[in-house]
Amino acid sequence: MEGTTGFGHTRWATHGAPSRENAHPFLDCQGTIALAHNGIIENHSSLRAELEAKGHKLTSQTDTETVVHMVEDAYEGNLEAALRSVLPQIQGAYAFALMHASEEGKLVVARKDSPLVVGLGTEENLFASDVHALLRETSRILYLMDGELAVITPTDVDVYAPDGSLVKREPEVVSWTVEDSEKGGFAHFMLKEIFEQPGVIHSTLLGRVSDLESDDLLRGGTSHVKLVACGTSFHAALAGKYIMEELAGVPASAELASEYRYTRASGEKPLVVLVTQSGETADTIAAAREARKRGCRTLAITNYLGCTIAREAEDVLYTRAGLEIGVAATKTFTAELMGLYLLALRFGVDTGHLTADEARKWTDELRALPRAVQSVLDSAGEIEKLAREYSNSRSMFFLGRNINYPISLEGALKMKEISYIHAEGYPAGELKHGPLALLTEETPVVALVPRDHTYEKMWGNIGEVSARGSPVIAIAYEGDDEMEKYVDHLLHVPWVKPVYSPVVNVVALQLLAYYTARERGCSIDKPRHLAKSVTVE
Ligand code: G6P
Repeated sequence: MEGTTGFGHTRWATHGAPSRENAHPFLDCQGTIALAHNGIIENHSSLRAELEAKGHKLTSQTDTETVVHMVEDAYEGNLEAALRSVLPQIQGAYAFALMHASEEGKLVVARKDSPLVVGLGTEENLFASDVHALLRETSRILYLMDGELAVITPTDVDVYAPDGSLVKREPEVVSWTVEDSEKGGFAHFMLKEIFEQPGVIHSTLLGRVSDLESDDLLRGGTSHVKLVACGTSFHAALAGKYIMEELAGVPASAELASEYRYTRASGEKPLVVLVTQSGETADTIAAAREARKRGCRTLAITNYLGCTIAREAEDVLYTRAGLEIGVAATKTFTAELMGLYLLALRFGVDTGHLTADEARKWTDELRALPRAVQSVLDSAGEIEKLAREYSNSRSMFFLGRNINYPISLEGALKMKEISYIHAEGYPAGELKHGPLALLTEETPVVALVPRDHTYEKMWGNIGEVSARGSPVIAIAYEGDDEMEKYVDHLLHVPWVKPVYSPVVNVVALQLLAYYTARERGCSIDKPRHLAKSVTVE
């Protein structure tokens, strides 16, 4: 297409099937205003009824299309004024982009509860939902805050507060480079990101725990930590529960963000730790707001400077995973685990559960993790062979106990999201209460068996599985060779303290999922139906 001004949008379908009619941008009745939207308009049914009563012709099933017709009604020669007058009538979450045929070279954008960033280029200005999309053009980024509107031309960006006053804000310069977002010789971003993990662990350990501003995170009455998250980050949060209990001696629980909001507030006020790599997951942001409403202190663990959760939570611990492009989270997951270890060690010292000396010893062991992870990566060839053997499976199980139970969930999630094989993660002790009925000779079972206090019990569970004829792939510490006699495949990971074993185990599971998906010819970096950051609730 010819022209100098434009925008596009990849729609993540919430209302109406993915189809040409439902694709953005939408036009008003006269075809002069174009609009794209990320988010959900919650009161779209009543807005649609009003518009249709006025004679507007809506051509899609989307919630979004209503807005362009509202702007059409409000338009009196100035697009930003029209949009501003319409915004108060809209309930829900949005990042909008609009242009008008007779206001050439001008884009108007606005956001509330959905991300939107503006990039300042040379003789051009740009916007996107995500910083990645802009890096090729610029590293100077203006973050729009909730409720703000911006007018973008090739030479200027004017940001306005909800009351229409001009906002003065300096751009931030992001240090990520275009190379960070390229594959660097790997077949897929996911593989590149898996292999970056030793470096990510190292950088996160040079971390920021001491930068946390509040020194009373576990203040007087707080006797409990609640970890809240979605997806892969939820698995980190669930591992976080065991990490908190083990290293900090603090009772902890993990809850899905989409569920937390609908629980009843109890009298106690835990410290709520929100785990979200993107910092933009709508359910997690809503949970942060709910936690504050309940009077809880909030702390976010996230990977993106300037993201929404960083502004919503009182304290932030940034992981340093860098850009992650593969939709299936890998390095951001290990970075989140690192953040949780560091936090737990700090709590351990704060509460007197650990002496400074003990905490230092645990930290030294953490520093050995990059090398341990590298050695798992060095065994990628072996894992690839194994993946080839089982890539035709229709169903797989992943078993773990205690701190490796969340890792079994994560191994199953990685497998299902990129290889499309049905996979379930299970606490090994629960297998006999139902799922055992599903095991056949064609159902491979991956068992996580570090030498910890669950080791003997895991042996028992492996026996139950083998007795049903299912092939068993065990992931165990180097030197643990006896098991070889009882399982079909034994993958070794280096010895680390059992509380740190999730880090080495998950890397092996990520590789297993990756090579299985590759063998099956799947779209690894962009699995069907999924999005990297889910900004709808
Ligand atoms: C999406 C992604 C997952 C991610 C989840 C939570 O579903 O596909 O990979 O784990 O969102 O994302 P967050 O940014 O909150 O960690």
